Amino acid sequence: MTRTEAAIAAADAHSAHNYHPLPVVVATAEGAWMTDVEGNRYLDMLAGYSALNFGHGNPRLRDAARAQLDRVTLTSRAFHHDRFAEFCTQLAELCGKDMVLPMNTGAEAVETAVKTARKWGYRVKGVPEGRAKIVVAENNFHGRTTTIVSFSTDPEARADYGPYTPGFEIVPYGDLAALTAAVDDDTVAVLLEPIQGEAGVLVPPPGYLTGVRELTAARNVLFMADEIQSGLGRTGRTFACEHEDVVPDVYVLGKALGGGVVPVSAVVASREVLGVFHPGEHGSTFGGNPLACAVGLEVIAMLRTGEYQQRATELGEHLHHELGLLTGTGAVREVRGRGLWAGVDIDPAHGTGRQISEKLMARGVLVKDTHGSTIRIAPPLVITKEDLNWGLTQLRETLTA
Ligand SMILES: Cc1ncc(COP(=O)(O)O)c(C=O)c1O
Repeated sequence: MTRTEAAIAAADAHSAHNYHPLPVVVATAEGAWMTDVEGNRYLDMLAGYSALNFGHGNPRLRDAARAQLDRVTLTSRAFHHDRFAEFCTQLAELCGKDMVLPMNTGAEAVETAVKTARKWGYRVKGVPEGRAKIVVAENNFHGRTTTIVSFSTDPEARADYGPYTPGFEIVPYGDLAALTAAVDDDTVAVLLEPIQGEAGVLVPPPGYLTGVRELTAARNVLFMADEIQSGLGRTGRTFACEHEDVVPDVYVLGKALGGGVVPVSAVVASREVLGVFHPGEHGSTFGGNPLACAVGLEVIAMLRTGEYQQRATELGEHLHHELGLLTGTGAVREVRGRGLWAGVDIDPAHGTGRQISEKLMARGVLVKDTHGSTIRIAPPLVITKEDLNWGLTQLRETLTA
């Protein structure tokens, strides 16, 4: 048995089978490259579902984490600590908002956004108790908690987890007329991904986000943008909403906010919205801990340079140009996305997304399928153009072999 086979067998024996990982066992990683337990190198074209926008072992993030490890890592929110105010101030400023509520994982931030919207609805908007409604989109992916899967339309994510949380209405993504019809006097929020990641990197039709902004403003409804996967540089802007010059009421952030080092998520909004919380009404032992804040602060400082957004724009144009050429070969049916982020629908005659991912792995490239014959390409934004080209060559050769 190889070291890889032994590690996979042990994982299969002792961990729940809630994932189906590619058969690679990573031991170390740097930048856009990972090395497995056998010493084989792989180009990471997934970047931890965009949690690794700044690459593996980014020196700035590593230094920030190390420095904080030597000071203090956890206080709980029972006490103040000296990185907290700075983190909240800086993140609020990055988002052009007043207040931050830090959590850890993306799902917790989405749960927090749901609670925020409901509390705001009852306390500020004046919705009758127990009637608050949140409108969401078909094919959404906002996380795995019982409330969040209650409004999922993916049977795999949802089946057998009922009874489900009520209070959500699902409309087709990108359909402004359907959204308009769903919003009523009890609606407190519209919760959307500005680009649907897990669904296959679906970009809504032009004008959709602007329309959502206008509708929600007119109906006194919060526009909550789940930028957990689309945000923090991935699309070439700090936030994907910026592509339509749209500013939502609530940003829901996660993944890259923790720099691939620690889980850091947050809800960011105005004082009118996040001001609804009082002591004891919501919280998290780890949310806003000193280590998380130190890493998050460095992430914010890196985003402030604009360097990563610029890389995502330039390399993204190149990526989409090259993938466009593949569409011409017939091997690829459609390519969607923005910046350094693409959903690629492969002609099913070439295999399922999983089979393509396994073939790419054998060539030293790691990607992940989403649904059917769709693969997602989202390398760390620090990838070099040469490495990106090499990865694209592997994809081209896999599809034309
Ligand atoms: C848009 C979006 N929201 C929420 C989540 C959930 O984040 P987490 O896995 O950190 O709970 C994800 C994860 O993929 C996501 O893509």
